Amino acid sequence: MMCSKIGLSSVVSGYGRVRIVDGVSTEVAPGEIVAVIGRNGVGKTTLMKTLIGEVPVKSGEIRLNGRDIGGLTAPRRARLGIGYVPQGRGIFSRLSVAANLGLGVGVGDAARSNFDRVFEFFPILEKRLQQPAGSMSGGEQQQLAIARILVGNPQVMLLDEPSEGIQPSIVQEIGRTIRRLRDQQDLTIIIVEQNLSLIQAVADRCLVMDRGRIIAEVRPDALNDPALAKEYLAI
Ligand SMILES: Nc1ncnc2c1ncn2[C@@H]1O[C@H](COP(=O)(O)OP(=O)(O)OP(=O)(O)O)[C@@H](O)[C@H]1O
Ligand SMILES: [Mg+2]
Repeated sequence: MMCSKIGLSSVVSGYGRVRIVDGVSTEVAPGEIVAVIGRNGVGKTTLMKTLIGEVPVKSGEIRLNGRDIGGLTAPRRARLGIGYVPQGRGIFSRLSVAANLGLGVGVGDAARSNFDRVFEFFPILEKRLQQPAGSMSGGEQQQLAIARILVGNPQVMLLDEPSEGIQPSIVQEIGRTIRRLRDQQDLTIIIVEQNLSLIQAVADRCLVMDRGRIIAEVRPDALNDPALAKEYLAI
């Protein structure tokens, strides 16, 4: 499998006439895990939605392996291999785990093996297939949210605050899974996070966002400095 590269040049986006992402340029190398950190409301989620195509690019370029994808619709970007696990997970609470995964009747052998691959990473989900998604714990729901994106075989995965609403012990487990996914599925990962221990468990480096811009780049261990953590994270 191929690992993908993402590049942004002076990307501007927002809602209506309001600019939120205000000129972001960066490169994420194939197989890298980059954390986007920063206080509440600085535009982290808007940046992710711009990458996946839910928020239109006003100007600038988004490149996937050198090709400008900034003008493509969200479904087309998804087909090119960009998967987005939204903040708040975006799963259907009343539907079963199976339905959330698109694992219905009539799934053929090829698709079945794809699900088996996903269940290797998230064995709990296979045990809960008939359970309503909303009745699972926060950590299990987050695993489901990641799993349903993984089923589509992405090359790039965007994760938006996967630690939100999850107890600390499970956060570490999700961190290990994210690293395994990168190592074994050749994924390039951009993760928005404010949870220091998850950032340090997964990220190769951190991009610090403030008011729609990348204002600094730091190594995860630099956040052990309480002053930096206070400045860059909402803690
Ligand atoms: N659909 C929308 N319409 C208009 N403005 C929006 C919309 N979504 C977000 N915003 C605004 O864009 C700004 C950035 O929001 P965004 O959700 O991208 O920040 P964030 O860094 O992800 O915050 P958080 O850490 O709380 O998740 C905020 O001022 C927010 O109010
Ligand atoms: Mg957000």
